[in-house]
Amino acid sequence: MAELTNLETKLGEVIGLAMAAQAATKSVAKLARADKRPGLVESLNKMHGEAKEAEQRGKEIAGTFEGKKSAILKEARSVKEKGAEMMETYLDEESDTLDGLEFLTMAEAGEVGHWEILARFNKRARHPGVRELTSWGLPIQKRHLTDVRASSLQIVDNEEPDAIS
Ligand SMILES: [Fe+2]
Repeated sequence: MAELTNLETKLGEVIGLAMAAQAATKSVAKLARADKRPGLVESLNKMHGEAKEAEQRGKEIAGTFEGKKSAILKEARSVKEKGAEMMETYLDEESDTLDGLEFLTMAEAGEVGHWEILARFNKRARHPGVRELTSWGLPIQKRHLTDVRASSLQIVDNEEPDAIS
């Protein structure tokens, strides 16, 4: 398997996080649906679609790295699996929508951090495809983080702090 540069590894990581984000948004949408929160379900479905697009766009760029595509995708799959394990650790049958949004807050913050790192490496690497990918994807990840935080605080504002959870 080809050895990856820092830039290529980070590309693999953002692809893997986009894969993990699809699973996470799907699980949390399920909780929100059970909780009868259609507005939130809709916003999570949109995030899911954008995560899918991020995966596809990332894979397309990975394909432009001569001889590196399969190593980049291997990195992506490994990150995806770690993400799935983290979700399994964090969420269980007792979890409610707020728990789900808390997990997503961590996941989206992680995505913002990784996309920023990829963009920063590319300041010197100057790969045009990566530049296009990050200028598309970074603002979306920042919006995802803003939105999940806002959604969780909206739930909090409608719950009593001293009610039994
Ligand atoms: Fe995201």
